[in-house]
Amino acid sequence: MLLLSISIILVSMRRLGCKEVAASVMDRLKKETELFTGEGNRAPSLAVVLVGHDPASETYVRKKAEAALSLGFLHFQYSLDEDTEEEELIALIRKLNDDGNIDGILVQLPLPPHISESRVINTIRSDKDVDGFSPVNAGRLLIGEDCFVPCTPKGIMETMRYYGIETRGKKAVVIGRSNIVGKPMAVLLMQRGIDATVTVCNTRTPDLKEETKSADIIIVATGHPGTIDSEYVKDGAVVIDVGVNRIPDETKKNGFRLVGDADYASFQDRDVSITPVPGGIGLMTVSMLMSNTLEAARRRRK
Ligand code: GUN
Repeated sequence: MLLLSISIILVSMRRLGCKEVAASVMDRLKKETELFTGEGNRAPSLAVVLVGHDPASETYVRKKAEAALSLGFLHFQYSLDEDTEEEELIALIRKLNDDGNIDGILVQLPLPPHISESRVINTIRSDKDVDGFSPVNAGRLLIGEDCFVPCTPKGIMETMRYYGIETRGKKAVVIGRSNIVGKPMAVLLMQRGIDATVTVCNTRTPDLKEETKSADIIIVATGHPGTIDSEYVKDGAVVIDVGVNRIPDETKKNGFRLVGDADYASFQDRDVSITPVPGGIGLMTVSMLMSNTLEAARRRRK
């Protein structure tokens, strides 16, 4: 008798959710903050400046306030009108720079078009720049010195550590070259001890698929849904999706749903590890901001 044995190997994607990663960071920060204040220090303090009424920015700023208060930080929010003059904003930042009761300053981006983002970022004192956007912090990151690391790339590194993702000797492709995510992410991945071999792609990369197909780790941060799908990714790869895009959806109460830059559904039956949206890297950014703020407070007490 002929015995026919058919073996079907079911493969499914691995979801790298960030809720528990962020929660573990917040737990750790809460304990560290209690220790810090228990030594007689004033609680870490964060000043957040929001200009205008961009709905996504308002949500982010609210989440930052909730996180700061949950850790027992002092939190000061400055909500300015959309038509605020650049000089008025600069004057506020200078005041916060000089205020000994403020450890960290964050100006929520994007700013209205009549305000120069680079001038604003340049005005924030580097030792209060908890976003890590100032030229001093960006430069220090590049040359491997102590600095405030931008929160999203820092959150990605924390997530990869949490899930035991190996970076040494791996090929990493970063899609996107923004100052907030792409550039600092590439610098972190190439650091000594992290030791990835890094390729940075942009919209003019001639054949994106050719670059990503051989990557062990793909960081996609373009702000465009569907930038990559499962055809761009080899078996066993890790995809970190940084995009948070609002897509109109009439079935939702608020009229939209969130999707990432990667086509998440296309990975369902693939041997790929991927961060979801929502529930992914977006959750890490706030906890990393809190980590930088505690660090700023510690440095100011030294
Ligand atoms: N807008 C989008 N992401 C960020 C961020 O990490 N920091 C600030 N300040 N603005 C943002």
